[in-house]
This record gives sequence, C-alpha cells and structure tokens, in this order.
Amino acid sequence: VSSAFSSDSSSGKPSPPVGVELLTPWPHAHLITSSDWDLVTVRTLLKTANHYFQTVFQTGSSSSCNPSDNHSVLTGHSVVNLFYEQSTRTRISFELAAKKLGATVINFEVSTSSVGKGESLEDTLSTLIAMGINAIVVRHASSGTPVLLHRQFGEAIHIINAGDGTHDHPTQGLLDLLTLFNAFELPLGTGTLQGKKVVIVGDILHSRVARSNLYFLNLLGATVHVVAPPALLPKNIEDLGCTAHHHLEKALQDADVVMGLRLQRERQSDQFVASLAEYTHFYGLTQDRLQRFCKPGVFIMHPGPVNRGVEMSSDLIDHPQSLITKQVRYGVAVRMAILSLCLSKPLTKS
Ligand code: NCD
Repeated sequence: VSSAFSSDSSSGKPSPPVGVELLTPWPHAHLITSSDWDLVTVRTLLKTANHYFQTVFQTGSSSSCNPSDNHSVLTGHSVVNLFYEQSTRTRISFELAAKKLGATVINFEVSTSSVGKGESLEDTLSTLIAMGINAIVVRHASSGTPVLLHRQFGEAIHIINAGDGTHDHPTQGLLDLLTLFNAFELPLGTGTLQGKKVVIVGDILHSRVARSNLYFLNLLGATVHVVAPPALLPKNIEDLGCTAHHHLEKALQDADVVMGLRLQRERQSDQFVASLAEYTHFYGLTQDRLQRFCKPGVFIMHPGPVNRGVEMSSDLIDHPQSLITKQVRYGVAVRMAILSLCLSKPLTKS
C-alpha cells in the first residue's frame, strides 16, 4: 500500500493514491460544482476514499500517535481553510484530512482577518497565492463563489468547494454516497443505487446539500423523492431528477433511505413556516412515522447540524439504523481523497 503514496519529486506533485486504477490520469485539479464530476470520476473518488477510511479508521489508527495515520502525500503542501460561513463538521474534517496527509493547514479566521478592513475575496486570494499556498477550501454564503474564483485563479491554486450559498455542497454529496454504498454493501467500482428510494425531507429551497445529493444520487441510479412545505419547495425542483411532495407520509412510502435537513433559518428572509411546532407536527421525522411507512431497516441520514426534536426526533438520531455518525467519519476519508487526488493534478499555466 505504501508505494501507492509515493511522491513524484520531478513535478513536485504528490502521486495520486490508490483508487485511480479506475481513472488514470485523474482529471480534476479542483472541485467546484458537483455536476463537473462524471460517473467514473465519482467511482474513483469513492474507491480512494474507502481506502483511506480503511487505513485510517478501521485499523484503530485514529489515535494521534500512530505513524500510519499520516500518509504524507501532501507533505510540503499548504492548504488554507477559507470559511466565510459557520461550520463544524466540514471545516474540522477538511483540517483533519489535510493534516492526516501531511499538509500544512491554515485556518483563515474571517473575524480576525483583513476582511473586516474591507479586503475583497479576490485580494485575499491573491495574497494567499503570493505566499505560495497550494490549495484553498472555500465556504461562502454567496452561491457561485467557487465558480468565480476558479475562473480568475484556477491556474494558480487548487480550489475545493466546501459549500456555496444554497447552490452546492459537493463534498457532502460524495460522503453521503460513500456512506450509502457501504451501508448497502455495494461494490464501489461497479455498484449502483438502482431500486433504492431515497427521500429528502426539509428545507429543500435553501439546501445546497439537497442539490448536491440530487446530482450524485441520480448519477448512481437512485430514485429520489423530496418533501417540504410548499414555501420550502422550489417549483422547478423536479427538473433536477426527483418527485416532489408536500405530504410527508406519501413521500415516505417504501423508502429505503430517509435524509432529514435542517431549516436554514439564517437564509430565510420571509417567514417560511408558521411556527417550528407546526413544522415538526407535519414534517418532523419520528420513529413511529418511519416504522409505519418506510421499508423495514430504512436508513436514517442527516448532514448535521441537527436541531433535535425539530426536523428529527432524538431517538431517530441515535437509532441503530442511523448513519449520521458514519456520515461524519466517511467525511474525513472523502476529503482526504479529494485533497490528494486534486492536488496530484498539475494546474495548467496560462
Ligand atoms: C450543511 C451545510 O452547511 O450546508 N452542513 C454540513 O456541511 N454538514 C447543512 C446545514 O447547515 O444545515
């Protein structure tokens, strides 16, 4: 295994890790939008991530002093976490992933940076590039920010989208796929989610997680249903490959997987639901509702953070069929794979 992590000293680029036997050469220096990545790319990523998962988590090597924890492919590389929005899981797992690969990681603190002095995102990025930073992981409240940054700086620095506005959250979509493939014990190189009904419940209108999942779940052949109160369900959502519902019980019928979403109150300019209590009454996921309508053994997912007792009851979050903790763990492995693969691809010079 260790030979798969060797460094190609002539280019200064890390060699791509295992998994890339599906796709050589690896084509992407960036992760900007979910739909930029096709089926073979996604399968390669999942295989690579699963390899990292097995070597980092399954061998009991998650304690900090085990040398096999550090695969070192990114030694000498620097990654800046540029988070303009709050985050727990995504930011920490990107930091952990980069550190496990041996990279130098810098967490950009918006509150203590020159952003408060009026510096633009473009000037901030130019500053990081001048310092020789190799990659940024960017989260921003404005949809499309990574697309614009890629257009301007894509030949100078690797750009990874960690969530942009209501638009896209590709690393979440990918970690959800890996979680599902392993839950259903499907082969990563050839398996599909054909015949699996996935129901996404909650604030679809404001959810970048829902949009990323719609792309990746459809790519792997799942049947996707979304359900939300009318005001939280965009009119054209079915164009993204799903069946839309307002009625929770109908949507849950024979579901194999139910994914809960948080009400994104920080993005809601209007009063989209009359009250939280009313939302929970009509759309709250409970053990009783899942037992009555879904397939036995239905899997429960949520990207977090969860508002316990609002979109999902506490007993469901901690239920044996809940994949929520697994999603978090696979998240680290998926981000290791994304960083090591994207940084192995040379940036083309203008
Ligand atoms: C999600 C996000 O930030 O889009 N969380 C995450 O990344 N795990 C969902 C949310 O904030 O509700």
